[in-house]
Amino acid sequence: MASTNQFLGFRNESPVTGKGKVNMAKKLHMVAGTWGVRCTFHSLVGLLVATLVVAAVYMTGEGGRWLEDRKSICQNGGESSCSGCNLFSGKWVFDNRSHPLYKEKQCTFMSDQLACEKFGRQDLSYQNWRWQPHQCDLPRFNATALLERLRGKRLVFVGDSLNRGQWVSMVCLVDSSIPPNLKSMHTNGSLTTFKATEYNATIEFYWAPMLVESNSDDPVMHRLPERVVRVQAIEKHARHWTDADILVFNTYLWWRRSKMKVLWGSFESPDGIYKDVEMVRVYEMALKTWSDWLEVHVNRSKTQLFFVSMSPTHQRAEEWGAAEGQNCYSETELISQEGYWGNGSCLKMMGVVDDTIDRLKKRGVNVKVLNITQLSEYRKEGHPSIYRKQWEPLTEDQLSDPKSYADCIHWCLPGVPDVWNELLYAYILHY
Ligand SMILES: *[C@@H]1O[C@H](CO)[C@@H](O)[C@H](O)[C@H]1NC(C)=O
Ligand SMILES: *[C@@H]1O[C@H](CO)[C@@H](O)[C@H](O)[C@H]1NC(C)=O
Ligand SMILES: *[C@@H]1O[C@H](CO)[C@@H](O)[C@H](O)[C@H]1NC(C)=O
Ligand SMILES: *[C@@H]1O[C@H](CO)[C@@H](O)[C@H](O)[C@H]1NC(C)=O
Ligand SMILES: *[C@@H]1O[C@H](CO)[C@@H](O)[C@H](O)[C@H]1NC(C)=O
Ligand SMILES: *[C@@H]1O[C@H](CO)[C@@H](O)[C@H](O)[C@H]1NC(C)=O
Ligand SMILES: *[C@@H]1O[C@H](CO)[C@@H](O)[C@H](O)[C@H]1NC(C)=O
Repeated sequence: MASTNQFLGFRNESPVTGKGKVNMAKKLHMVAGTWGVRCTFHSLVGLLVATLVVAAVYMTGEGGRWLEDRKSICQNGGESSCSGCNLFSGKWVFDNRSHPLYKEKQCTFMSDQLACEKFGRQDLSYQNWRWQPHQCDLPRFNATALLERLRGKRLVFVGDSLNRGQWVSMVCLVDSSIPPNLKSMHTNGSLTTFKATEYNATIEFYWAPMLVESNSDDPVMHRLPERVVRVQAIEKHARHWTDADILVFNTYLWWRRSKMKVLWGSFESPDGIYKDVEMVRVYEMALKTWSDWLEVHVNRSKTQLFFVSMSPTHQRAEEWGAAEGQNCYSETELISQEGYWGNGSCLKMMGVVDDTIDRLKKRGVNVKVLNITQLSEYRKEGHPSIYRKQWEPLTEDQLSDPKSYADCIHWCLPGVPDVWNELLYAYILHY
C-alpha cells in the first residue's frame, strides 16, 4: 500500500512553467508515515453506515436536466437566496455538457501533479461530473463575475497540497477569461501569486501545511522523518495573508500521526522544549492558535473566511468493498453507497474544527466550512493514481505493480476540486 505521506506536498514544481525541477527534496527520502491514530471511533462509523440506506441507483446517469436550463435559487437574489439550502448534501450527476469547466491542456498554469490526461489516463469521465445539491441548484461558475468581485482584492488559499490543488483549479477556472498578456504568476518563498492585471486581483497560495509553524514549512524541503509543530506560533505565516479579502484555509493530512512532537520555544533556540503529545490534542491547540489570530487580526467587516474540511483518500479498496490490497488504481466509477465514509476521514478531527469555528462565531468571527468531505468520499475514481508526473524513476518492482505508486490522495484536474470551487464561488458571490 502506498503510504499517505508519500504524496503530501508538491515537489518544487514551478506553477508557471509546469515543469518540475529536480531539487534537493529528492534527496530527502519520503517517510512512510503511519496512520497510527485509527481515529478510535470505528464503532460509531460502522453504526452510521449501517443505518444509512444503500441507494443502488443513487448516481443518476446522464440525461438529467442540465445547468443552463435551470434557475439557481442562489441567483434569485431575493429573500431566500441559498442560505436555507445545504449545498453539501446532494448527489453527483454525470453531465458532459456542463463539465469540465475548462480543458486541461488549455490551462496555462496546470500542475503536472494533477494533469492526469497529459500523463496517459484514458478514461476521462472523472471530468464530467457535476454536483447537484438536493434542495437547490448551484450558480453557474462565471469567471468574469468572480474577477469583478475580486477587483482590487486578494483571494488567498492557505494550507497544504490539497488546498494547493484547489488553488490551481481556481486559477484554471479564470485563466481562459484573461488574455495572456494580462496575467502573471510568481513565487516568493511560501507564497505563489497569480495576478489578473486588468482587475488588479490576485489569487494566491501560501504553503503552511499545519497552519501553525512546523518543520514542514519549507515550500520545497518538507518531507522530514519527524514532524515538529510550534503550536503556539502562527505569525510568521499569518503576516503574509492577514489583510487578504478572502481567505480559504485547510489542514488535515499532515496530522495523520498518533502523536506529534510539540515545540515550545523556537526552532533555532537550544532551550526549546520538545514534548510528544497525542495528535488530536495538538490539532486542537494549533486550531486555537489559528482562531485566536483571526479574532485579533482579521478585519471582520472586510475579510471573508473559509475552512475546507478533510479531503478523503482512497488508499484501501476493502473500505468500499473491493479486493483487499487494492487502492484507487484503475477505478473508473463512483462509490454509489449513500453516506459512504472512508476510514481515513477522522470525524473526531472534523469535530475539533467545528468546535473551534463555533467558538469563533460566538466571538463575532464567521468562518464558513466548505464541507466537502462527504461529497468527495464518493469520488474514488477522481485521483491521479499513476497518471501524473513521477518525480523519481520507477523501479521494476513498482512498474510490475502499478498500484504501489498510485496517488490516491490528490485529485485530477479538471475534476473534484473544481466542484469545491463552485461551492466556494456560490458563497463568495451569493451569500
Ligand atoms: C456525452 O456522453 C454521452 C454518453 O456517454 C455520449 O454519447 C456523448 O457523445 C458525450 N458527449 C460529449 C460532448 O462528450
Ligand atoms: C458573467 O458575468 C458577467 C459580469 O457579471 C456578465 O456580464 C455576464 O453576462 C455573465 N455571463 C453569463 C453567461 O452569465
Ligand atoms: C490593487 O489591489 C491592492 C490589494 O490587493 C491594493 O492595495 C491596491 O491599492 C490596488 N491598486 C490599485 C491601483 O487599485
Ligand atoms: C518576497 O517577500 C518578502 C517578504 O516576505 C519581501 O520583503 C520581498 O520584497 C519579496 N520579494 C519579491 C521579489 O517580491
Ligand atoms: C475594515 O474594513 C473596512 C471595509 O473595508 C474598512 O472600512 C475599515 O476601515 C477597516 N478597519 C480597519 C480597522 O482597518
Ligand atoms: C477500518 O477501521 C477498522 C478499525 O481499525 C478496521 O477494523 C477496518 O478493517 C478498517 N477498514 C478498512 C477497510 O481498512
Ligand atoms: C459536515 O458534514 C458532516 C457529514 O458529512 C457532518 O457530520 C458535519 O457536522 C458537517 N460539518 C459542518 C460544520 O457542517
